[in-house]
Amino acid sequence: MSTAVLFDRYGDPGELYVTDVPVPRPAPGEVVVRYTAIGVNPIDWKVLRGDARALLPLALPGACLGVEAAGVVVEVGEGVRRFEVGDAVIRHGRPGTFRVHEAVAASQEADELTAQPGRFSAEQAAVLPVAAGTAYSALRQTGLRAGELLLVHGASGGVGLAAVQLARLMGAEVVGTASARHHDLLRSLGATPVEYGDGLLDALDRWSFDATVDCAGGPQPTEAALRAVDRAERRVTIVPDAAAQGRGVPFLDHVPLELAATLDLIGHRPFALPVSARFPLSRAAEALALGLKGGTGGKIVLIPGE
Ligand SMILES: NC(=O)c1ccc[n+]([C@@H]2O[C@H](COP(=O)([O-])OP(=O)(O)OC[C@H]3O[C@@H](n4cnc5c(N)ncnc54)[C@H](OP(=O)(O)O)[C@@H]3O)[C@@H](O)[C@H]2O)c1
Repeated sequence: MSTAVLFDRYGDPGELYVTDVPVPRPAPGEVVVRYTAIGVNPIDWKVLRGDARALLPLALPGACLGVEAAGVVVEVGEGVRRFEVGDAVIRHGRPGTFRVHEAVAASQEADELTAQPGRFSAEQAAVLPVAAGTAYSALRQTGLRAGELLLVHGASGGVGLAAVQLARLMGAEVVGTASARHHDLLRSLGATPVEYGDGLLDALDRWSFDATVDCAGGPQPTEAALRAVDRAERRVTIVPDAAAQGRGVPFLDHVPLELAATLDLIGHRPFALPVSARFPLSRAAEALALGLKGGTGGKIVLIPGE
């Protein structure tokens, strides 16, 4: 048998329950992956609350959260040439990774599995898709180039920390907004931190920005993006907000094969996402509650089998 964390109705983390499920068998074109680390993201509590049901409709009861994980292929279905038993892989995309075993489409076109580069631990690999992949698409959308100055709102969150590091790898300078307690972390990644809240707009006036990525959302980041960067095509927000879009802060478009492109950019250069908390998979509800509280300054990871 295997284990999954499921829920039967939309609500708060108390709706999650741990249950035994059969180990799945792969259909043609699928592989079965045993997960070794699973990333936790804001989309998980948005899905659980039902806020994302138009975008990501789920079959209830018995739905499963989780849009990223790292693991090892344990069985290969008919017709699969891309992966073999024992391959380390990263799973990304549709919800369903809060479990130990999963049958996953193996083709590149399905874009649900990517080979895990050996340089990353399972834990680091598990948290790459959402944070680094989203940051990569956002930076590409702004057309960021070497030597430019980028403003990142929410720079101490998962996506923000990835955006800071990827922008530095692209040769850009970065100013990032965050709470004061996260400023040393941002400095250690080569960014200049600024506290958000009162005085932010005036504080930002001392720089001349080329592009901006909003990883926080809300009225102040929108106001700051409009004031800091003249051209709408050099602004992007990863948080859907009709007011921001109406005022000229475009919403993110993910690039195709986003994780593969992100891994190409990183290559063998330094890149690591701080992990702020680890929980056994069986305590997924606590992990989600911590994420909902926010402000951990890193990624939250679930470890199956603990
Ligand atoms: N469109 C997409 O595909 C996509 C993909 C990934 C995420 N998202 C969305 O993007 C948002 C961020 O995701 P995440 O994973 O990075 O979340 P996260 O790890 O929870 O980080 C959120 C960060 O926002 C910061 N923050 C809060 N209010 C702020 C403000 N007014 N100005 C500047 N920073 C502020 C916090 O900083 P401090 O702790 O320093 O206060 C926190 O570190 C979520 O809403 C998520 O759903 C969208």
